[in-house]
Formats: sequence, C-alpha cells, structure tokens
Amino acid sequence: MKLRFDISSDRAKANFKAFLFLVGVLLVISGIWYSQNLVSILEKQATEYVKFRIKFLEVSLNNPASNSDINFLFNEVIQHADYPLIYTDTENNPRSWRNISPEIDNKPIEAFTKKDSLILFKALERIKKENPPIPIKYQNKIVLGYYYYGYPKVIYRLRIFPYLALTAAILFGLLGYMGFSYIKRSEQQSIWVGMAKETAHQLGTPLTSIAGWVELLSISDAHKETAIKEIQNDLKRLTKIANRFSKIGSRPELKPVDLKPLIESVVAYYRRRLPNMQKKVSIKTELPDEEIILNLNEELFEWVLENLIKNAIDSIMPSRDGLITIKVSRIPGKNLAVIDISDNGRGIQSPDKRHIFRPGFSTKKRGWGLGLSLARRIIQNYHGGKLFLKETKINEGSVFRIVLKEKV
Ligand SMILES: Nc1ncnc2c1ncn2[C@@H]1O[C@H](COP(=O)(O)OP(=O)(O)OP(=O)(O)O)[C@@H](O)[C@H]1O
Ligand SMILES: [Mg+2]
Repeated sequence: MKLRFDISSDRAKANFKAFLFLVGVLLVISGIWYSQNLVSILEKQATEYVKFRIKFLEVSLNNPASNSDINFLFNEVIQHADYPLIYTDTENNPRSWRNISPEIDNKPIEAFTKKDSLILFKALERIKKENPPIPIKYQNKIVLGYYYYGYPKVIYRLRIFPYLALTAAILFGLLGYMGFSYIKRSEQQSIWVGMAKETAHQLGTPLTSIAGWVELLSISDAHKETAIKEIQNDLKRLTKIANRFSKIGSRPELKPVDLKPLIESVVAYYRRRLPNMQKKVSIKTELPDEEIILNLNEELFEWVLENLIKNAIDSIMPSRDGLITIKVSRIPGKNLAVIDISDNGRGIQSPDKRHIFRPGFSTKKRGWGLGLSLARRIIQNYHGGKLFLKETKINEGSVFRIVLKEKV
C-alpha cells in the first residue's frame, strides 16, 4: 500500500468548513458579550465615581469652614476627571468644563469663537444623552447648577469594539468563503488534470501502433486494408485524447446519450488491445435489448468505464484466464440503470476496501491511485449517480457498480 499524494477528503473539508464557521460565530458572540459586560461594569464604576465626587463637592459647599466658592470647588473636584463633564448654571449655561476638546478645554468663555461655542454646545447635547445631570444643591434645597458628565474614553472605545469584531468576523468569513470556492474550483479542474495526466501516458499506445502500421505499409501492401482501419481507429483515439485536453478547466456538460453503443465502443477499444497483453483476458457484455438513455458527459463517462476496465484487467492473475463482464440492467420502477463491471481477478484485501476510493491510494507498482477517486467524483458529483465496490473475494474477483438515473 502506498500513498502517492494526499488530497483531504470531501468530508474532512466539509467538517473544516463547519468548524471555521463555528469559530467565526463564537468569536463574534464572545467578543460582543465580553465587551458589553466590560462596558457596563466600567459605566457603573464611572457613574459611582462621579456621584461620589459630587457628594464631596456638596459636603464642601455646605461646610461653612470651607471655601464655598462653587467655581473654585468645582475646579478642585474635576482636577483629575478623565471623562467629559460640563457644569452649567440653573439656566443650563455652561460655566466650567473638562475633557471636551483640546481646543476649548483651557479657554475661558470670554475668548470663545463661534466655533468654540458650537463645540461646547454639541458636547453638552451629547453628554446629556449619556447620563441624567446631577443637580448641585446648597443645603439640600437651593439648586446651584447641574453637573453633566459622560464616560471615560476607554468606554467609548470599548463600545465600538463589538462592531470591529463583527467586521473582522465578516471579513474572516468572506475570505474563508473565497478560499473554499477557490479550492472547489481548482478541484473541478483537478478532475481534468488527473485525466490529462493519465491520458498523456495513454497517448503512447496509439502512436506506437500507427508507427508500426506505417512501417508495415512501407514494406508491403499485403495488409493495406487492415492497416488503414487500424490507423483510423488509432486516430480516433488520439482525437478523443486531444478532446479531453481541450476541455480542461471547463465544467462538463451533460447530454442524453444511448448507453449501449457507448459501452460497446469502449469495450471494442480494449478488445483490440487484449491480444497484445501478457495474460489471457476476454471482455463480455450483457446488455438489455432496449435502448437506455442517460444524461451523460460522454467523455467523462467513457473515461470512468476505461478506468474500471483497466483496473479489472490489472487485477487478473497470470495463473488464470481472465474474464471481465460488463452487465447493464435496469430497475424500472425507479428509473435507474445499473452497470456492473466484474472481474475474476485477485480481489481486494479487507483492510484496503476502505481506501480504494481515496486519491493517491494504489497497490500497483506504477499506479497513481487516481482512477477510482476521479471515477467516483465524476459519477457522483457530475452525474448525481453512485459508484461503489459491490463485492469482492480474494482470488475470486470483484464487482464495481455504477447506478445512474435514466432520462425520462
Ligand atoms: N478490479 C479490481 N480488483 C482488485 N483491486 C482493485 C480493483 N480496482 C481497484 N483496485 C484496487 O484499488 C486501488 C486503487 O485503484 P485506482 O484505480 O484508484 O488506482 P490505481 O489503479 O492503483 O492507479 P491509477 O488508476 O491512477 O493508474 C488499486 O491500486 C487496487 O489495489
Ligand atoms: Mg486504476
């Protein structure tokens, strides 16, 4: 057993996708939750702190021993404030302020320009919405003014954090999505790339054959007719390979195709090659009398059959005459066509059964381990059908089954 290369399976990819999505959602939810919590704790603390300061201010005001100039006291209280605040008189005219904007923080009101007044007015409107003002009272009766206050800068920053997190998560999701659709696209192409690789070394067979016939023709005309027929066949084969290359990268199209002649032509191709093989193999078809029309991409489907037949031929042991059967049957009630490709070859070891459809898995000296994985992808992804190992017995043989919907 060997692994030529490893492409993660579709399921692993789907799991990873779900995992990424979950991580994204969790990131957003926990980010929002965490920052909201933090913000409300800090807001509470900030409010408590301000209220405590105001209490202190009022106590000082009502204390006859202290300097009772409100502006002086106010400036004392706000010395270390790190939040925006505005003290207004009872008419709501600003008297002192802090942390509003560097342009006006240290400017006396007499020196104010129109723009400065506007800044202060707007700040007051904004702060009003944050917290209800605290009235400053003298001896608990006479209102001297109002203390408007906002929150420390850090709270404003934290408030926008969830939006930042959300934007990051959306970007993350978008990038992930783009990555995945790229992987998907390149995977579609990898079918053609795999086919190209594989057909590339198939090019050699018809080319050698043509060279042989031309050589023969140059010596004598005795086999002219056979030679021309064979050369035509080889040319057809080369055209087919050229066609496969020309379609690399495009999404395969499905068309209604008569299944029986298609199978016969693939089998005919292999039958012609059989006499040149080291071992004795024959290929039999068991086809129903009626027409079977399926929605197929002919090139891809032929390629699937070729791969299954090639695997079947490879499985034949030299000790026995090989027999490969391609049997087509129908499940009429369900409109399904069933194609069984069976061989009397070496069979598949139990532990290998799970791996044979994995890209890169091969037990052969010169195998790529691509055939079955690409064949399955072609049948399942492009044709909506099924391809599976129906049965296998060591030294007795295997049956691979394709199930496809018939065109109604
Ligand atoms: N009919 C069969 N009989 C026995 N073993 C089979 C048969 N078909 C497939 N296998 C096993 O499954 C493995 C994978 O087959 P697959 O067609 O994917 O790759 P491969 O034939 O080894 O290489 P490639 O097709 O890329 O040239 C084979 O190596 C072989 O072990
Ligand atoms: Mg193969």
